[in-house]
Amino acid sequence: ASAATADSRYVFDELAWGNDETHHVADGYDANVLLRWGDPITADAPEFDVMNQTAAAQLKQFGYNNDYVGFVPLNDDGSRGLLCVNHEYTNEEVMFPGLGRQDRAQFSGMTPALIDIEMAAHGGSVVEIAKDDAGVWQVVRDGKMNRRITPLDTAMTIDGPAAGHARMKTNDDPDGMNVIGTLNNCAGGLTPWGTWLMAEENFHGYFWSDQLDADGKPVIADDHPEAASYKRYGVPGMWYAWGAQYDRFNIDKEPLAPNKFGWVVEVDPMDPTSTPVKHTALGRFRHEGAETTVSSDGRLVVYMGDDNRFDYQYKYVSGGKVSDDRAANAKLLSDGTLYVARFDEDGTVTWLPLTHGTGPLTAENGFNDQGDVMIDTRIAADLLGATPMDRPEDAQPRGDGTAYIMLTNNTKRTEDEVNAANPRADSSFGHIIEIKEDGGNHAATQGRWSILVKCGDPSVSDVGAQWNPETSENGWFGSPDNCAIDADGRLWVSTDQGSNWAKTGKSDGLYAVETEGEARGTSKLFFRCPVGGEMCGPYFTDDGETLFVAVQHPGTDGTKNIPGFERESTFEDPATRWPDFDPKMPPRPAVVVVTKQGGGKIAV
Ligand code: FEO
Ligand code: CA
Ligand code: CA
Ligand code: CA
Repeated sequence: ASAATADSRYVFDELAWGNDETHHVADGYDANVLLRWGDPITADAPEFDVMNQTAAAQLKQFGYNNDYVGFVPLNDDGSRGLLCVNHEYTNEEVMFPGLGRQDRAQFSGMTPALIDIEMAAHGGSVVEIAKDDAGVWQVVRDGKMNRRITPLDTAMTIDGPAAGHARMKTNDDPDGMNVIGTLNNCAGGLTPWGTWLMAEENFHGYFWSDQLDADGKPVIADDHPEAASYKRYGVPGMWYAWGAQYDRFNIDKEPLAPNKFGWVVEVDPMDPTSTPVKHTALGRFRHEGAETTVSSDGRLVVYMGDDNRFDYQYKYVSGGKVSDDRAANAKLLSDGTLYVARFDEDGTVTWLPLTHGTGPLTAENGFNDQGDVMIDTRIAADLLGATPMDRPEDAQPRGDGTAYIMLTNNTKRTEDEVNAANPRADSSFGHIIEIKEDGGNHAATQGRWSILVKCGDPSVSDVGAQWNPETSENGWFGSPDNCAIDADGRLWVSTDQGSNWAKTGKSDGLYAVETEGEARGTSKLFFRCPVGGEMCGPYFTDDGETLFVAVQHPGTDGTKNIPGFERESTFEDPATRWPDFDPKMPPRPAVVVVTKQGGGKIAV
């Protein structure tokens, strides 16, 4: 049954909810697999050989766990362009024969060769794509701008307040101006001048120590100069064994190396020889994404969540204005003000500047300069009294001074800790906040906030969900994560339920969430992931006729608790072999391109 009301602006018949081995899209649409893990993306790349994978091959092939997707047109009609894709992390248990889910953190399971493959599968890809004569998107394998960006071998520069800071200096970079690689690139964004922003999220998980207590937990001395910072950021996380092989991920050998991660990285996809830049002016935290807009007074504004329970929502406002001068625009991410949000009970949101020398951000509190404020953004935001949120994931501004903030879930919040902007204790399903900045100006330091929806099953009163009652049993969802605004200013939300999947029984998917008029708060299901996959992307082209979605880690999340699957996936026995369904091939993360049959704008 369709939930479409007379005033719903999303014209399609919604999908039925469910959970199976493949993907589904609303009737009347095509959803074609465009790029899979291991697909060759350079003219000289070897074909994917899953039983004989090498780091050298992976460096020329599409990476793992596609998350952010952006499209930079190369011609006027947008029929050719560059797909910019983040590769957030790796799932060893379905990438390599004979490994279990926990093997990545154990050097015994991870050989040096496998570690290099993991590293080469992280980062990002720039891939040229073009419509063929039939209007079908195809990969241009010999595209001149195609490249991989990885934590294994991509040199980057550091700019902004923390560049050259004493706390950024390492043995391989005594000036504190350079770093090899980016990692855990989750959501992201594009700038108005066509560069790509890769957000570094769970960087802490990649750092290693050999100094462990009897329980195997890292031991950090109280008088270690980075002790407070490590604690606040969760360093070292010991998720990956990279630090057993590379000093730059081992804090016993390079105690300051973690300070070089947790930033937003800018890449110029049009120049395949360009060196990516880590912009420290945008702060250091578990950056989920970095979606941009231009304020009514012409400045660049970037909305950014710190995806951690009880962490904060941020935005960056450039000092200068966006112009047609690409060289001048390149400086907008170097000089500006970072703000953190305080959501008051009366519906006011106040953006608090993270500026050295103002309020508590002084030497007495350990901040000697703006570089310290940026390296320890979280500690600075704590002192300013920002509002602890239910895990801020993607945030999406719209040109009219509105922004949507995805709060994915927070099962650790107690009844004593609820506040108006995070109103539920033990929240498994999350909610979405709408911000209307004062005067419709994204650079404003104050605005009004409201809750658009509280997620979860509206038929279960204990859940405390809040949807427009027009939302059907197919349309409600849990754990909003990524989001996008389409060419008509409409909001789309994708989900990542993770271990909460079994609480809804629904697969992750992409939903059309109405923000305007009587249908405000109505949601409709447009695309469904294969079992165990998370829905990433989404990205709509400027003409509204193409939608890119990214299926991340198909076959893995929560499959143990899904009726009909009931097992942890392995390479040998995965819950699905999407998208190849080849008995010799494990599931592969892939970007899917959605178009309307016969052409035209999506959901119009
Ligand atoms: Fe990588 Fe917060 O999702
Ligand atoms: Ca995410
Ligand atoms: Ca987004
Ligand atoms: Ca998530």
